[in-house]
Amino acid sequence: MIIVKRIGKHLGAEISGVDLSKPLSDDAFAQIASAFFDNEVAFFRNQKITPEQQVAFTRRFGVLEQHVRKEARLEGFPEILIISNLLDDQGRAIGSQDAGRFWHSDLSYKKEPSMLSALYSIEVPEKDGRVYGDTGFASTTAAYDALPADMKQRIAGLRNVHSYRYYRTRNRAAQEQEKARGGRVVQEPELSEEQLRSVPDVETPLVRTHPVTARKGLFVNEAHTSHITGLPSAESAALLGELYRHITQPEFQYVHSWRPGDLLMWDNAAAQHKATFDYDLPMRRLMYRTTVRGSAPF
Ligand code: SIN
Repeated sequence: MIIVKRIGKHLGAEISGVDLSKPLSDDAFAQIASAFFDNEVAFFRNQKITPEQQVAFTRRFGVLEQHVRKEARLEGFPEILIISNLLDDQGRAIGSQDAGRFWHSDLSYKKEPSMLSALYSIEVPEKDGRVYGDTGFASTTAAYDALPADMKQRIAGLRNVHSYRYYRTRNRAAQEQEKARGGRVVQEPELSEEQLRSVPDVETPLVRTHPVTARKGLFVNEAHTSHITGLPSAESAALLGELYRHITQPEFQYVHSWRPGDLLMWDNAAAQHKATFDYDLPMRRLMYRTTVRGSAPF
C-alpha cells in the first residue's frame, strides 16, 4: 500500500510502500504523481535503483532534459546530471560541483522550464554521526498566497527575464569570493558560444499559474532572474530582493536531510531549492539528477 506522509507545513512529503526498482502499475504511478503535485516535494527512502531505472521512472512524467553542461552528464546516460564534490584521478570534477549555490528552480531560463527534477542520493556527506549537504526547498505558491493584497496588485502582469548567462556571471563572482576566503573551487570548463546560444534569455510572467494544480506562484529566482522587464534597474533589484526575502522565509521551507538511497522529486513550477555547502572532501557527496521538461509558464 502506498502511504503519503506530509512532513513540511507547506511542502514536502514522504511516500512509502514503493520499490522504484520494480515495475509500477498505472494506478501506483497515478497515486505517486498526485502526491507529488499536492506536496510540491516528495521523496522515497531506501531505494536501490540503477541509472536505467531512474531514467525509466522519471520519464513517466514526461520528456527528459539533457543538461547544457555535457561534461557533467553521466556517461551513457545523457539525461542524468551528476551532482557531486568528487574528482577524477586527474583532479577534474566528475559532475556539477556547485549546482544549487543560489535559490532557483531548475532550467527556469528555458522557454519550457523544467517541471520536475528527481535527485537520487548515492553518497551523503557524514562526519561523527552528523549529516551534511542538506537541500532547502521553498514553496513559491504558499509564498504567493501569503503576499499582502497590495503587493499582489503591484506584481500582477509583470514579467522577468531568466538568463543562463546571468547565472554564469553570478556564479563566477561567487567562486572568486570563495577562493578569496581560501575555499576550494574546482574550475568548470568554459561553455562554448554554441552551448550558450542554445540557452538564450527568456522572458516569463513573474506570477505563473501552475499547469496542473492551477495555483499561482512566484516565478523569479536569485540564480537566473536578471531583471524585471520595464522597471528602472534599481527598482527592479529592490523588488526582486523583497520577493526573494519573502519566498525564502523559514515559514515556507522544507529542508531535506539526505540519506543514501533517497529519491527526492521537486516541482519546479511550485518550489525553489538551494543546496547547503557545509562539507568538503574527504566527505563525499554523489547524486544523480534527472529533469522533466515542463510547459511555457503562463
Ligand atoms: C540542484 O540544485 O539541482 C542540486 C541541489 C543539491 O545538490 O542539493
